[in-house]
Amino acid sequence: MWTRKHLLGLEALSREEIVAVLDRASTFKKDGRLTGETLDTLAGKTVLLLFFEPSTRTSMSFEIAAKNLAANVLRFTSVNSSTAKGETLVDTVRNIAAMGPIDVAVVRHDTPGAPQRVARSLDASVINAGDGAHEHPTQGLLDILTIRETKGAFDGLNVAIVGDIAHSRVARSNLFGLTTLGAKVTVCGPATLVPDDVTQLAVEVAYDFDEIIPKMDVIMMLRIQHERMSEPLLPSNREYAKLFGLNRERENRMKDDAIVMHPGPINRGVELDADVADGERSVILQQVTNGVAVRMALLAMVLGK
Ligand code: CP
Repeated sequence: MWTRKHLLGLEALSREEIVAVLDRASTFKKDGRLTGETLDTLAGKTVLLLFFEPSTRTSMSFEIAAKNLAANVLRFTSVNSSTAKGETLVDTVRNIAAMGPIDVAVVRHDTPGAPQRVARSLDASVINAGDGAHEHPTQGLLDILTIRETKGAFDGLNVAIVGDIAHSRVARSNLFGLTTLGAKVTVCGPATLVPDDVTQLAVEVAYDFDEIIPKMDVIMMLRIQHERMSEPLLPSNREYAKLFGLNRERENRMKDDAIVMHPGPINRGVELDADVADGERSVILQQVTNGVAVRMALLAMVLGK
């Protein structure tokens, strides 16, 4: 089912390709945990982690995933690099590749399309680890794996993605992946943070969080990405939390078996209260665990393993 050299986004993936990744990722788990087994699938291969934006979960889990498959890992972070002297992305990757062969480059960058540019500049497979507000496909896949583990099936499943839709690559990747699998996705947030063209993506739009809460099987909360806003789009965090924050009172109006998700990092007390983030419905740390399994699957699959 999988013949792609790169994973640049979920928009182009078929249902079969997504399921193939989920099935492969599931082989690295047993009884809800990672097996912890070290395999030699990528022995002799080199994985380059190219992070031009901060990351905790994505960068750490890619490193763990690559090491679990016995790959060599090279880590580049733009802080303290010659990027600060004006070196371009393409020059950076070409220079690193000149020091030794790279088999997979994992790219996070604040510019949409940066992973595509790396794919054109190197002979290696490229995995998008988040490009601006465009896509974060591995996050989408680990979220989808978590939903499959907890809910079983996607057809007719009601999923709400709540918050800063306009600046969220996580929202876009989840929209593409979840609708391909048959879920009904509703995006919800203040009008200033929901782009006009989102209705073209086969999703519902809601501006009243309280109205949709009781109908949802999955509620995925997003962080407000102040760093991607060129002008203030919200009156205040306090006002935002009042209208769109998931707190205990709102949680009590969710379906009995509905789950709470968040890609992290969480701004506690803004989009999500601490007792909900750490409560019984939360699958947030399961999402993080699944990040390792999904990234192991993808590192192997883009190399045809
Ligand atoms: N979810 C996510 O991408 O987290 P990091 O920015 O910490 O990698």
